[in-house]
Amino acid sequence: MGGNLHRAALAMAMAAISGAGFAASREENLADPIIGSEDAVLADAPNVPPPIARDHATKVVVHIEVKEVQGRLADGVSYTFWTFGGKVPGKFIRVREGDLVEMHLDNHPDNKMPHNIDLHAVNGPGGGAAASLTAPGHSSVFSFKALNPGLFVYHCATAPVAMHVANGMYGMILVEPKGGLPKVDREYYVMQGDFYTKGANGEQGEQPFSMAKAIDEKPDYVVFNGSVGSTVGDKALSANLGETVRLFVGDGGPNLTSSFHVIGQIFDTVWAEGNMGSPTHDVQTTMIPAGGSAIVDFKISAPGTFIIVDHSLTRAFNRGALAQLKVPGDTQKLVYSGKTSDEVYQPEGPGARVAEGPGAGAPTAKTKAQRIELGAAVFANNCQACHQATGQGLPDAFPPLAKSDFLNADKARAIKTVIGGLEGKVTVLPSWRVSLRSGIA
Ligand code: CU
Repeated sequence: MGGNLHRAALAMAMAAISGAGFAASREENLADPIIGSEDAVLADAPNVPPPIARDHATKVVVHIEVKEVQGRLADGVSYTFWTFGGKVPGKFIRVREGDLVEMHLDNHPDNKMPHNIDLHAVNGPGGGAAASLTAPGHSSVFSFKALNPGLFVYHCATAPVAMHVANGMYGMILVEPKGGLPKVDREYYVMQGDFYTKGANGEQGEQPFSMAKAIDEKPDYVVFNGSVGSTVGDKALSANLGETVRLFVGDGGPNLTSSFHVIGQIFDTVWAEGNMGSPTHDVQTTMIPAGGSAIVDFKISAPGTFIIVDHSLTRAFNRGALAQLKVPGDTQKLVYSGKTSDEVYQPEGPGARVAEGPGAGAPTAKTKAQRIELGAAVFANNCQACHQATGQGLPDAFPPLAKSDFLNADKARAIKTVIGGLEGKVTVLPSWRVSLRSGIA
């Protein structure tokens, strides 16, 4: 008893130093008496259930219904998702260490496949997979004691496992430490996943799963919360200036590790890999393995729209791994000034052009050959890096300028665009649709 008390006091002291809530040992959690019973409060992303106020262990009854549903993966692209609760990611479960969790897995009778659940929060074979293998129209029950605190991934583990996971069968369970996590103003649930479709990225219509691409680990989509654009615009996360935001971040995979980053924010605290031991501080990017998690806290010191990405950046800008956090409010000039000046920069110094005499400014071309030469220089300095040397563009990233129907339709507009920029919406057809139009495909 004395030993236990000593260890508890030590853990509390460590918790005070590290900022983590007080967590007990496995043995203490196993011995915790179960008092009463309650139904779990579950939540769909990006929301999470409220923090647990209880100061004792209880039996938490969790019902999750597996549903195979057709849904939107990207604009014009639908996919048959296999889900824990109707959405990707699955329902967020929140319990307290020491709790007895009674899992009910209900496989909807309309489903075609058997499914199960492997919770990484379980100490037991398969994380509950064999005990929960359930045919359509059946319901399975098993229980486990939450011996370790942490943010844990759960997923389907029915063969072929990678296929069930690739179809969206993952979610998270938070086992709160007994002392709870530090209080914050907002908590959100963000989970990354990679999708493999028969057609290429952007190819329209219902897209079946591609096992070949999954085996090659070449996803067509990498997304947060189940679809491209799930968490942008009207559906962006939100917070107010001065608030502290907590993201419970998971990576369902099945394959990719996420380099999780919020552009324009520094994570004040990160519980890396979702464990409740010593957190780290002042982190820019945290790596989240497939089947792993992290908890990140940051205080909002300046307003704006903050872009949440996998910093393996083509996944963000070409495959969909991009979300938004919107913060309204007045500019905090000391924290971040915004642009304070935009002047002409002359590396050779202002004297170089003045010395050319009256009328000198931008170089002028007297012949067509000179015009072409100067135009090529403008292109090389301003356009080439993105649109490539011959203006052919990069598929799915930068549209072609050479032979562009948009530019050729209005040459005056095209020249004005180069000089003054262009604002507003421009629709660029993906290359495969251009191919279809021109009869190449
Ligand atoms: Cu499954």
